[in-house]
This record gives sequence, structure tokens and C-alpha cells, in this order.
Amino acid sequence: MLGVCGGIAAYKSVQLARDLTLLGATVDVVLTGAARNFVAPLSFEGVTGRGALTDLFSVEGAALHVTLGREADCVCIAPATADFIARAASGRASDLLTTAVVASGAPVVVAPAMNDGMFAHPRTRANLARLDASPRYHRVGPATGLLAAGEGSGPGRMAEPDGIVDAVGRVLGAGGALSGARVVVTGGPTREPLDPVRYLGNRSSGKMGVALARAAWLRGAEVTLVTGPTAVPVPDGVDVVRVETAREMRDAVLAVAADADAAIFAAAVADYRPGAVQPGKIKRSEAGNSLTVELTANPDIAAEAVARMKAGSVSVGFALETDDLVARAKGKLAAKDFDLIVGNRAGQDGAAFEADTNRVTILGRDLEPRELPLMSKFAVAWEIMDLVEERVGG
Ligand code: C5P
Repeated sequence: MLGVCGGIAAYKSVQLARDLTLLGATVDVVLTGAARNFVAPLSFEGVTGRGALTDLFSVEGAALHVTLGREADCVCIAPATADFIARAASGRASDLLTTAVVASGAPVVVAPAMNDGMFAHPRTRANLARLDASPRYHRVGPATGLLAAGEGSGPGRMAEPDGIVDAVGRVLGAGGALSGARVVVTGGPTREPLDPVRYLGNRSSGKMGVALARAAWLRGAEVTLVTGPTAVPVPDGVDVVRVETAREMRDAVLAVAADADAAIFAAAVADYRPGAVQPGKIKRSEAGNSLTVELTANPDIAAEAVARMKAGSVSVGFALETDDLVARAKGKLAAKDFDLIVGNRAGQDGAAFEADTNRVTILGRDLEPRELPLMSKFAVAWEIMDLVEERVGG
């Protein structure tokens, strides 16, 4: 059930209803009276294929609010205005939306949206704190950014539809073996400085790491993503540790490895770094036509982390290879003591570095090589999480 309240962010709720419907959800939209001033029921009917509801005292039946509440697997309120939050916090049942919320036992995802002054108001803060304290309510946002025209920028902007879809997904996805589990993911490239302005790096985009973090988070895990520089947006609920060098990544990973129930090492870690970082910019006029840089081996983050992980935990490595994929992946599985390893071939179209898709072969101690077709990195991440979920806890 998608509840829409009267705020300007309601224009984005049509997109949200459409996205949830396309993902396979049956979406019943309930608009408050105020919401109808911003967006018409027909807009929602056009994207959900179902009648949008507004009236508590309608001919469809006196118990409509009870039916709606009972049938919902998840209730999502977007935008949730200061008034809705106040009514929800005090358990009021004064229109179809609030009566359905009170009649339902389903989890509620709340996406607040209001002017920054209203968001800062002590009464609103107290009402939100009350919802936050309830295990039934799951808050997403608000973000800080542009508010309604003329209102400037500040905290109070509704989370984007993608973020709200993710929050609904997490609520619906919880309950499996990864629910509440601690999952660590490494991702992205590392940058190894040569001097104050230059570094040695690689072409990893960080997309696979973010996809893995998102997939684990959607299954209810508490996720820490340790990532090298990446422009890819990370779901709000994922704890992100941003690092540059392999040694920074090592410290961040070792800080959380011992408590992890699963760790997935998707980072493209530089094997070597310049032995000495020049304090000033290297000048061509001084270095001349040839420059020799001596490289020193970096720590093997995955191997060190796996050695510290607890019994029953699951570790997954990645192997990017140009040849002998399966044999090399098997070698790394054994050498680094992984439970599973995901092999991908370098230099293929639509796979590995920078692409949105990947073609991988997964194998493990107890798993014969399983070749997957070309699919989105998120779909690959989902397959990997299936295998992790089966193995977590032994
Ligand atoms: O680079 P290599 O093919 O050995 O990487 C295999 C696995 O080990 C990958 O999962 C990678 O993230 C991890 N790794 C690491 N630290 C390194 C090198 C690799 O964690 N220094």
C-alpha cells in the first residue's frame, strides 16, 4: 500500500508507484484529501492499473481500511508530511490512510518531505523520534537539497524514488539467513600516490562492489562497504568507508573482519605501490626523458582478513583473468582460503571493468564451476548472495 500525503514531493510518488509496479508489486495507492491537490488519482491508476483510493466513507465497503491494512505486506508513505507523521505518532485514525495504517500490522516505510523549518520544529522532531523508536517504522530520508520553489535548500527533501524502492525492498526481503548478519564488501580501485598530484590506479568503477553491498543490504544484512574512489551512489543504509590506498583499505577491512558473517572481496587492489612517495611534484625538467619508479608489494587484504574471520563465516573472492580462468580461480580459492570465488575474463565486451553487466563463473570448495550468462552486475550480485546465504552459519 502506497500512501501519498499532500506535499509537493507527491509528483515523484507517481514514479515510485510505477517503479514498484514494474518490479512486480501490487500497489494500492491511498491519497489523503490534501494529496489530491497536488496529483490526481488517475495518474496513479495509469501506472498501477488499479483504482487509487481516497475516501474512507465510500460505497466500496465500510471495511475498506481494514482490508487494505490486512492485505498489505508493506505500507509505504511517500511523501509523509509533518501532519501525517504527527497523526501516525499519536495513533490517530482520521482518514482512509491513517485508519488503514492503524488497521494494519505491516511494516511501514516512511519518507518524510517538508520545508526545513517544519522538519526542524521540536514537535515534528519528537513525532519522528517516536516513529523511529518503533520497530514497525522504517524511515528513509529526508535528504538535504532543493526544497519547493522559493524555499531554498535544506534538510526536508523527500528521498528519491530509487532510495524509497530500496527501503521497501529491504523491509520485504528481511527474514532470510542474511537478515541481521554482518557483511563486509570491498570494491572499487585503489590509488597509490607517486607524488602529491599523481597516482597509480586501475579502471575499476566500483559498480560491482556497490551492487554486492546493495544486494546484501536488501536481504536485511548490516553492510559495511569499504571502497576505493567511485562515483556510483550507495544505498543510504549501507555503511560506507571511503579509502584510497591499499593500506587504508586493509586497515578499514581488518577493523570489521573479525565480526563479519560474510565478506566479499570485489576490490581491484593494486598489487604494488610506489616505494617512496615524492614530497613535491615530480618535474620533467629534473627527471629527464626516463623515470624509474620502484614498486613495493601491497598487503593482501583478502588473505589477511580471511585469516581473522570467525568459524561459520563465508568469504568470497574475485579473480579477474585474461587466460585459464577456471584453473587460476581455483588456485586463488585455495591460496587465499576463500569459500567461493567469482571469476571473470578481462577484455570481454560488456563484462568486468566499467561495464554495467558482467559474465562470471562462480566456483567454490563445495561448488563445481557454474558459468552464468551475461547479466547486470546487480543480478550477478544477487546470485552470489544466494550462494552466501545458503552457506552463512555453516
Ligand atoms: O589480485 P588477485 O587476482 O590476487 O585478487 C584475488 C582476490 O583477492 C580478489 O578478491 C581481490 O579483491 C583480493 N585482493 C586483496 N588484496 C590484494 C590483492 C587482491 O584483497 N592486495
